[in-house]
Amino acid sequence: MSSLPIGIIGTGAYLPETVLTNQYLEKLVDTSDQWIRERTGIRERRVASPEEDVATMGEAAARQALENSGIAWEDLDYLIAASNTFNYMYPATAIRIQHGLGLDDKLAAFDLQAGCSGFNYALYVAENMIKNKGGYALVIGTDANTRMLDFTDRGTCILFGDGAGAVVIGPTDRSRLVASFVASSYNGKLYLKNEFTELNSPFLPKPALTGNFMYMDGPEIFKFAVRAVQESLRRILAQAGMSREEIDFLIIHQANYRILETGARFAKMPMEKVYVNVDRYGNTSAASIPIALHEALIEGKIQKNHKVVLISFGAGVTWAATVLEWLS
Ligand code: ACO
Repeated sequence: MSSLPIGIIGTGAYLPETVLTNQYLEKLVDTSDQWIRERTGIRERRVASPEEDVATMGEAAARQALENSGIAWEDLDYLIAASNTFNYMYPATAIRIQHGLGLDDKLAAFDLQAGCSGFNYALYVAENMIKNKGGYALVIGTDANTRMLDFTDRGTCILFGDGAGAVVIGPTDRSRLVASFVASSYNGKLYLKNEFTELNSPFLPKPALTGNFMYMDGPEIFKFAVRAVQESLRRILAQAGMSREEIDFLIIHQANYRILETGARFAKMPMEKVYVNVDRYGNTSAASIPIALHEALIEGKIQKNHKVVLISFGAGVTWAATVLEWLS
């Protein structure tokens, strides 16, 4: 096995072209551009076209990550797709992406569902598989949230958007995964219940269908998110043996600008060192962290020798963090 450290070698992102503005949402629900901007920081988000879904978006982000990594595609051993909005239970979205990339029979592909922390979870799994057996992995976060929103519910439909991000990880001198953890706990305040599974069964009483939409208790989730960011920061710094002062750049799950500000305050970091694209894309769930990482690298916000902390939190509930050192 290679003696190089395991790190991120290349990144990619895909955002659908269609822009859904706050002004358009004003026509759908009783809300205003001003309310949405003040309470969430979101100005607009993207919507996948009818031809697109989590697999097509994930494949586009994966192609870019592979090209940026420079590794030979057939050297990939694993492909993990983190998502919460799979079109099919099977075939897995990861296998649809594998097929789209022309890598049938060449690697093991599987899906992972852990709310908006899915990307950090998938990175954790891939890192440990590579530690054990060597090789390279594609880790993808992809979500088509607009497909599961109730566009009559102003408490949820203003928050989410669609998109995908991807990374290639493996032995490299480009970056190093320094520390990571994943965590979860039961909480029914943010959920999407698939009532169709009960509807189909002749062995269950028929459910009274209420709509297959995402439900959320916004203020409760907000409180959880703030706690999760603080706890994640504390835990990952202890694990990495780092102080807050040693963090060069912070990427927090893009759910709400106010949550990013709280995270920055807790980390004692100016907002210039905290990545923000929630204004342009809203909450893209599992895609949020890899899209932000890709953009921060392209914009030169992450530089040589920078220690970067990636913090996510999500439905379930889940939370997770990773420390990444950019080496070259
Ligand atoms: N437009 C106008 N008014 C609204 C809207 C809207 N879109 N949504 C809610 N309101 C109203 C409420 O009805 C309420 O009115 P009332 O006082 O008359 O009852 C008032 O605004 C205040 O509502 P709150 O829900 O208390 O407002 P809050 O400041 O908490 O903001 C928000 C709501 C934006 C949803 C916030 O709670 C939040 O961001 N929560 C976290 C959401 C989140 O991050 N979820 C995902 C995390 S996990 C994952 O990513 C899957």
